[in-house]
Formats: sequence, C-alpha cells, structure tokens
Amino acid sequence: MKEINVAVTGAAGQIAYSLLPRLVSGETFGADVRVNLRLIEIPQVVDKLEGTIMELIDCGFKQTGSLLATADIREGVENTDWVLLVGSIPRGIVIDGKKIEERSDLLRINGGIFTSQGHAIGELAKDNAKILVVGNPANTNALIGKTKSNNSLQSWFAMTALDSNRAKAQLAQKANVEISSVTNMTIWGNHSPTMYPDPYNAKINGESAVQVINDLNWIENDYLPLVQQRGKAVIDARGASSAASAANAAIDTVKAVETETPKGDWFSAAIPSDGSYGVPEGLIFGFPLVSSGQGEIKIVQDIELNEFAQSKIKITSEELLSEKEAVKDLLD
Ligand code: NAD
Ligand code: LMR
Repeated sequence: MKEINVAVTGAAGQIAYSLLPRLVSGETFGADVRVNLRLIEIPQVVDKLEGTIMELIDCGFKQTGSLLATADIREGVENTDWVLLVGSIPRGIVIDGKKIEERSDLLRINGGIFTSQGHAIGELAKDNAKILVVGNPANTNALIGKTKSNNSLQSWFAMTALDSNRAKAQLAQKANVEISSVTNMTIWGNHSPTMYPDPYNAKINGESAVQVINDLNWIENDYLPLVQQRGKAVIDARGASSAASAANAAIDTVKAVETETPKGDWFSAAIPSDGSYGVPEGLIFGFPLVSSGQGEIKIVQDIELNEFAQSKIKITSEELLSEKEAVKDLLD
C-alpha cells in the first residue's frame, strides 16, 4: 500500500472528532492508501488524544497507519503530505467575560497560532505538502501561515467548501432538484458574512441557477444572507459551531484537490490570489478552481461577473485587506 502522512491540529476538538475517522477509513485518500496520522493539540489537552487513538484503532480500518499524539507542532508536521489546521478558538465561546461574536474578534486570538505553525510547516513538511486551514478566520490565518512558511513550493488553502455545500443545498431545495444537479458553485472571497456565493455562474442541470429559480428577490434577500450567515445560525441553534458539516467540507476539499475535477465543473476553496478578477495579489481568496489531480490547481478564468457580482467581490476583497492590515505585525 502507498503511505501518506497527514497532520491535524485541534485533534481533540469537535470538528476533528468527525474528521479523523474519515481520514483513515479509505474514503478520503483511497482504499489503497495507508494514512499515518499525527494528532496535534495544546499541551493541556494532548493526553485526551490517547482516547481518540483507541477509538481510531477500534474502528478497524485497514487503511489506518501509525497514530501519533503530540503537542509539538514540529514533530507533528515533519515529512507530512497534508496538514489540516483545524485548531483554534471558535466563535460563541466566552473569554475573559467577553463573548467572541465575530470573526474579527478571532483575528488576534487565533492569528498568533498560525505564525509558529506556518514556520514549522515551511521548514519540515514535504515541499509538495498541501495545507488546508479550517480554523477561523480561515483566510487570514492561511495568509499568516503561508507567509511564515516561506516555502513557495507548498500549497495553502482556506476552506470555503462548507459555504459551497450550504449554497448548493439551498439552491437545490428551492429548485426542488437533487443536490447533485447543482454544479459550478463559487464562494468568492472570505469565509465570512461578506462571501459571495455566486448564483449566476452556479448551474442547475447545466443552466444558470438564477435563470432556473427565476426569483431575484429570493436570490438577493433570502439565499445570499442565509448562506452568508449560516455559520452563526448553526451556533445560535446548536450552542456550538458547526462540526459534522465542517469536517465533511474538509474531506470534500481534500478529495477535490486530490482528484481531477470533472470536465466543465469547478470547486471552491480560497488560495493565494494571482491578481485574477482584479483581486489584490497574495490575498487568500475564494475562487473557482480546477485540479489536475496531480498537484496542479488553477483558477478558472473568464467567468462573467455582472455589476452585482463585482460589487460583492469588492466588499469581500476590502474586508480581507482590512484583516490583513489588522495582523500586519504577524506578517513581518
Ligand atoms: P473546538 O474548540 O471544538 O476545537 C478546537 C481545538 O483546537 C481545541 O481542542 C483546542 O485545544 C485546539 N487548539 C487550540 N489551539 C491549538 C494549537 N495552537 N495547536 C493545536 N490545537 C489547538 O473547535 P471546533 O468546533 O473544532 O472548530 C475549530 C475551528 O474551526 C474554529 O476556529 C471554528 O470557528 C472553525 N470552523 C471553520 C469552518 C470553516 O468553514 N472554515 C467551519 C466550522 C468551524
Ligand atoms: C461556520 O461557517 O460554520 C464556521 O465558520 C463557524 C462560524 O464561526 O461561523
């Protein structure tokens, strides 16, 4: 069996609890790939991972390789093919008497984590390693991590697949079609309420979703805010941030990167902007992407953006620029 090394931070958290079994079950990397898993946590929590390791062994998947728990990021990421950076503080919890409500509150709290992690990844993970940032604020955390990694051969992604899945589900429900009929979804920009889940270029059975649904009022006043605010709605309803759906989206992202994108379709994730669509270079920005399945990821070009789309993309770009400004000391 081929072997790969995968590291996950926040391994004792709620997303990881849904994520880890699916990484070592053959589902994500294929039935013929053995996955060596490094579980990374803060020192106060790392002992709990012994229980997680027992459970992973008890799942009995033949694709499960070695299992290591560590609080040492350098040990965790050494020689890894994939690093899933989930560890960070979610919204909704209370710190020093203050409820952490918005992603901006998380910028300073979580941003710091990604400097040392980025540095360790750049130095010790494989040169063709792929890094997926799930922990919020995901785009700017990825910007910090990538900058500190100082390794342009590695590929950094921030997760927008959960937003993409949410957007597809809403369109499918409204059009009364199977979710598999909804393709070509792009989440432009930030994984935050400024994201633009593009309904014009998304397709339902090959036709623009806006045309199929034929209800602009619903698109602009129901669909968009619902997708943009879905994370908060889940937190309010569940008393904890989304976990099973977030883990599922992380698996979807890894698979989308690892396999060739079906012809005519694309997938959504945030990657460093190369200036496409006028997005400032270097921002970690949600784009429509295709994968060769052999490590090459490209931004799909020449997608038509109407004035509405352009105004939304400007808003989310400006938010990412202001997040970048807020953490500029972490980018030096
Ligand atoms: P959680 O609180 O259940 O788990 C987070 C874990 O990270 C904790 O066990 C904590 O000890 C650990 N951790 C903190 N700092 C760490 C560090 N430096 N190294 C290693 N581990 C560390 O939270 P969760 O519900 O699993 O969510 C994790 C993050 O994912 C949050 O920031 C949340 O907002 C984010 N999230 C993102 C998306 C997305 O679509 N991008 C979706 C859902 C949640
Ligand atoms: C989500 O989208 O569910 C997560 O990013 C959690 C959050 O804070 O919104």
